[in-house]
Amino acid sequence: MTAPIASPAAAEAVIDPKSYAAWTPLLDLFDQLRSEGPVTRIESPRGDHDPFWLITGYDEAMKVSKDNQTFLNAPRATVFTNHSGEALAREVTRKQGEESPNLVSSLVVLDAPKHPKLRRLTQDWFMPKNLKSIEERIRQLAARTADKFVAASKSAPGADPVVDFVPLVAAPYPLHVVMQILGVPEEDEPKMLFLTQQMFGGQDEDLSQSGMAEMTPEMISQIVFGAVAEFETYFEGLAAQRRANPTDDVATILANATIDGEPISARDRAGYYIIVAAAGHDTTSASTAGAMLALAQDPDQFARVKADRSLVPGIVEEAIRWTSPVQHFMRTASADVELGGVQVKEGDWLMVNYVAANHDPAQFPDPRRFDASRPANRHLAFGAGAHQCLGLHLARLEMRLLFEALLDRIDAIELAGEPKRAKSTFVGGLKTLPLRIKAS
Ligand code: HEM
Repeated sequence: MTAPIASPAAAEAVIDPKSYAAWTPLLDLFDQLRSEGPVTRIESPRGDHDPFWLITGYDEAMKVSKDNQTFLNAPRATVFTNHSGEALAREVTRKQGEESPNLVSSLVVLDAPKHPKLRRLTQDWFMPKNLKSIEERIRQLAARTADKFVAASKSAPGADPVVDFVPLVAAPYPLHVVMQILGVPEEDEPKMLFLTQQMFGGQDEDLSQSGMAEMTPEMISQIVFGAVAEFETYFEGLAAQRRANPTDDVATILANATIDGEPISARDRAGYYIIVAAAGHDTTSASTAGAMLALAQDPDQFARVKADRSLVPGIVEEAIRWTSPVQHFMRTASADVELGGVQVKEGDWLMVNYVAANHDPAQFPDPRRFDASRPANRHLAFGAGAHQCLGLHLARLEMRLLFEALLDRIDAIELAGEPKRAKSTFVGGLKTLPLRIKAS
């Protein structure tokens, strides 16, 4: 079979951050591409990025995610970037003595044998058994966040007040949780939020807070680079403190970590902090806001889950699929291989698109519908295989505890305006969610 090649317009749309702000046209685009085949060749009409294979089929995305020998993370950028972005990353990392297409050396840019050794350092910490020890703290945080939200809605101006769920709840709550885990003091949290938004929201002018409507790729790369450098400096300071005064948090594990008897490098340690800090909150914020949107759009569903809390985990899981906050990761083929009817060559770059895979109707009937009772909701929003999300149990726990707290305090919610999505090809989701609520 000849490989489907995206039209220039479709190829542009797949890598344009603005496409990810308009959800329905984005899903239409992926449906149209998938209808021609689950794997599509994307070639840059302007020649400003390398060609890659876009994976829109669920089975193919699962296959690539699970075969960590044939599909590697390290050789090329693991988050889509154009030529100038990659050149900047290489220039910066060359100066640090380890040239790489990825600015940050973290779990997601590594392969075996190093990846599993680094991952094992904190794997147990993130398992449900250990998370039990912090569950009560997270429950209290969830209760405080829900209290503040209800209070904000009562003190908001007007007879029929509107509150924005994202800055009040969805953004700060997962940030608090992940910062507690990393041992970052509360007064430094705004700085961490700002830096993460600079890194992941670098393509969105509201989130990167640059105030610029249209940024060139070079400007975006500079913003991201500045954020990475600040993260590294901050976390080296934290590691030094933990060596002097150890506790039982993840920061202490990383500050003293060794592999094969050798201390891990400062770059690896900083990368670890950054991936946990960054991956741990914007993602969960997006799925949390998505769950609230789904409840606001369906009062019957809200009433059902309010009456029966055993439905909360189903809502959480479906919200994670429905929103797919991590929109893609890239892989590089280590050998020639057939995938979804096309011939992939050694060295080829592939985009595992989780949004597209999680909306493949062959796996999820009526995929755009929010259906909390989907049987065996085996979505790919957390990825699969060796790199499957380290924080997935934590993300589920956080969301469950938050919705339990919100349902205790709220009798009804209603959408009070058009929610806005972030312009970002990588981590995406709602950046505003205006609501009217009726407190219990
Ligand atoms: C709804 C929330 C979340 C989503 C949708 C999400 C999604 C993902 C995805 C798609 C990957 C890559 C999987 C792959 O390549 O197969 C990943 C990796 C990762 N996630 Fe999450 N994540 C979430 C929450 C979290 C949280 C709360 C943490 C930690 C506090 C976290 C930490 C990580 C780390 C460390 C990795 C790298 C794992 C590796 O490469 O071995 N994530 N996540």
